Amino acid sequence: MQNTRSGWKDYKRVVDKIFQTIPDKEMHRDAGPERCRVCSVVGNSGNLINSHYGPMIDDGDFVFRINRGPTKGFEQDVGSRTTHRVIYPESAVDMGNSTHMVFFAFKLADLKWLVSLFTTHTIKQQNKVVKITTKANMSLVMVVSPGFMKYVHHQWLNKHGRYPSTGFMTVIMAFHICDKVRVYGFGADKDGNWNHYFERIRPAYKTGIHGGTFEYVTLKELQKRNKLELYE
Ligand code: C5P
Repeated sequence: MQNTRSGWKDYKRVVDKIFQTIPDKEMHRDAGPERCRVCSVVGNSGNLINSHYGPMIDDGDFVFRINRGPTKGFEQDVGSRTTHRVIYPESAVDMGNSTHMVFFAFKLADLKWLVSLFTTHTIKQQNKVVKITTKANMSLVMVVSPGFMKYVHHQWLNKHGRYPSTGFMTVIMAFHICDKVRVYGFGADKDGNWNHYFERIRPAYKTGIHGGTFEYVTLKELQKRNKLELYE
């Protein structure tokens, strides 16, 4: 986000607009001794192919999917339920009426896009062309504070990579709203590239600007310490 006085003003204006547009509802804050909320966090790795994890993924109380990760045609390996879909403008897809859109903003323009999505439908150009409208239930939208990305980058990733991947941030977010976190579909292919279960990525791009190896090692360490279950 911009760090100048006018940048800050602009940021505040957009955030105010977001709170006017999207209902400011308490969600998932019902932790207590009688609750054991099991969450499936599903990344997009090719290691899901032939995994047969579908039924187990669907068994979670919450099923988080990330970016474009589809279910249709892949049910046996990835399941079919999606209670939450985590996106940013460039990765937005239509989602069901009962799915929570979980929105990560990487830049101020992303927050402006979110407002436009539910009001004027005018913003279609950012760094890349973005969808002018996406089918989503506005009353279920959850906007993650941009400060969360900094927190994850500094506290969990020791500043590895330019910024955390959407998937890694989703895992850490799940710690805040779930009692048990099961992680599927994370991990590069044998050449160290982040592949997808639903498409071939050409050209291969390693893990892009993200600290993919460090993220993965951190997930393994969390598994070792019984903080999550990692299914590969
Ligand atoms: O590729 P995409 O960003 O849509 O994938 C969603 C998330 O899944 C990534 O942000 C990353 O955290 C994780 N991923 C992974 N290994 C892959 C592909 C994706 O860990 N091979």
